[in-house]
Amino acid sequence: MKFEIKGRDAAGRICKFTTKHGTVTTPNLMPVINPNKILISPKEMKKIFGTEMVITNSYIINKHKEYKEKVLKIGVHRLIDFDGPIMTDSGTFQSYVYGDIDIDPIEIVKFQRDIGSDVGTVLDVFGKPDQTKKEAEHGIKETIKRSKKSASEKDDMLLACTVQGSIYLDLRVKCAKELSKIDADFYPIGGVVPLMENQRYSDLVGCIISSKRGLDPSKPVHLFGAGHPLIFPLAVALGCDFFDSSAYAKYANDRRMIFPWGTERLDDLNELPCCCPVCTKFTASELKKLEKSDLILQLAKHNLYISFAEIKKIRSAISEGNLWELVERRANSNPFLLDALKELRNTENKIWLEKFEPISKNKALFYTGDHTIHRPIIYRTHKRLLNRYEQLFDTTVIFPEGNKPYSTYYSPYVKEILKKKNVNLLVHSHLGPVPFELDEMYPFAQSVFPKNIDKETDEESRKIIDEFLLGRKIILWKDSRTSLETDVSEERKIDMDLRRISAVTDMQFGNGASKALFNGKIKIVKSKKTGKIRNIYCDRNHILSMRASDGMFTLKIGGACFLHDFFKYPKLRVVIREVAVPFIKEGKSVFAKFVEDCDSALIPLDECLIVNEKDNLLAVGRCLLNKSEMLSFNYGLAVKTREIKKRS
Ligand code: GUN
Ligand code: ZN
Repeated sequence: MKFEIKGRDAAGRICKFTTKHGTVTTPNLMPVINPNKILISPKEMKKIFGTEMVITNSYIINKHKEYKEKVLKIGVHRLIDFDGPIMTDSGTFQSYVYGDIDIDPIEIVKFQRDIGSDVGTVLDVFGKPDQTKKEAEHGIKETIKRSKKSASEKDDMLLACTVQGSIYLDLRVKCAKELSKIDADFYPIGGVVPLMENQRYSDLVGCIISSKRGLDPSKPVHLFGAGHPLIFPLAVALGCDFFDSSAYAKYANDRRMIFPWGTERLDDLNELPCCCPVCTKFTASELKKLEKSDLILQLAKHNLYISFAEIKKIRSAISEGNLWELVERRANSNPFLLDALKELRNTENKIWLEKFEPISKNKALFYTGDHTIHRPIIYRTHKRLLNRYEQLFDTTVIFPEGNKPYSTYYSPYVKEILKKKNVNLLVHSHLGPVPFELDEMYPFAQSVFPKNIDKETDEESRKIIDEFLLGRKIILWKDSRTSLETDVSEERKIDMDLRRISAVTDMQFGNGASKALFNGKIKIVKSKKTGKIRNIYCDRNHILSMRASDGMFTLKIGGACFLHDFFKYPKLRVVIREVAVPFIKEGKSVFAKFVEDCDSALIPLDECLIVNEKDNLLAVGRCLLNKSEMLSFNYGLAVKTREIKKRS
């Protein structure tokens, strides 16, 4: 099984997943093909919607005498006439809907293997939301047992082991951990259909996060039975890679149309709020008059257009770095989803999400509503302000929100203030406190908030400012007449450029980084065009470059040497195995399978020190994965090498 990360945002990712019948890109949607009633053939789906992978049910095929004989001869691909990857389910869902059914758990896995399924599913025990913890515990025990047995029968079929545990989050984690020890390839999150049917999205979020916490991060995750695009953005942001949809057909049968914000009855619509080919060809009244089977077909097509369009939007949001914006906008259009988003405000979930959140993005952070302030990247920024930023003086002057960059906007007043007294300079922004030295750093400069802010954001930013300023004298700056007593006792002159590079390096690399890096004769080279800091030299040694895009530093090998000497192992390190050392010395990037260990504080897009097992510095690079991912992925890059250390 080959699964590798190509792009990422939030805890979501764009991956390549390879099977015997080809490679697909995730996040992806597998339409459910019911061999008894094929509404739109898989081949046609591929042509119309770009469908790459489908899912069908081995239990239904096995139960049907004619299909069973045929499929064992010709294989499942020819049975449903599709040459791309096919996943098969096992009958678990049928036993949940119809009660006990007659299937042997191991026979059904062998059957899936024998019919050539690309991804076959274990007959897991469906954990209903209303069961007791004891029942749920019993269910996962049986699911784990069957999964272990199934693994020895899989041969070259990829095996899907479903995480169960009802709504008991500790059982979800436990089940996921146990299943991750098995030689399996694909991990659906199961037992969630009743939660989605009843719009219990808050519980769903709990189930997804706890399952993800226990799962091996290098394996694809499928949200079983999730076919409504409403849930796709949030589920992807929490790390789900696959969805399956029977909803397109079920809703169509029911004369209902799927939209990104929910579902509408065709009979309630006078106008079709959609531009898909179906809704372009027909008006609402023309659709309503269609003959039944044609109507179902047209509605099913509309439903699939909308579903695949949402998958595309999600992938685009991941590559643009604005997945959280899409998630929040979708939640703003559905109250139940909005409640679910609130689950992400608890600290435990923020800590988990922060591990996956890239250090910065290509695009500015856009405010969408009162959840924005709770995004993982803002949580991280606040934490670092409190723990890594050094406030030099007793007194802090606080400026109100102004044009960006703040230090330029307020510079005439700052000069006057600093003539009289040495103070810390701060803007009270909607994002919280912004020290002047950090006003070009992501996300302070690269964020867009409305002038009039909601109550939640206002309270959160005040809370963090109060914590940040605890024990300090405060002067609120109103205008140029704001008076400051002259203080002659303090004679330290502050060099704003040096302050800026020190503050940014401490925020980015940790406490003490500025001491390690700027311990010599510092030369700061600025852009002739913009006047912004570009390169920094220490004793003529190039140590850092500042990126114009996010106001953060790119680490040069000179700077890496200083940080390596200063910080003890394992801080900032990615340790590579001896076999890969010659490749790194040639400047090649680090593949995940060669990573032996790594600093658990490193996050995606962080600068890192590439070292060998004896902690000798080899090179400097940029992480693409976090620690748990580096240690579990067998494919793909872990670190992009930038510069090697000569003569090490
Ligand atoms: N389809 C929908 N939910 C489930 C589940 O929990 N397990 C399996 N195997 N299939 C499903
Ligand atoms: Zn449409």
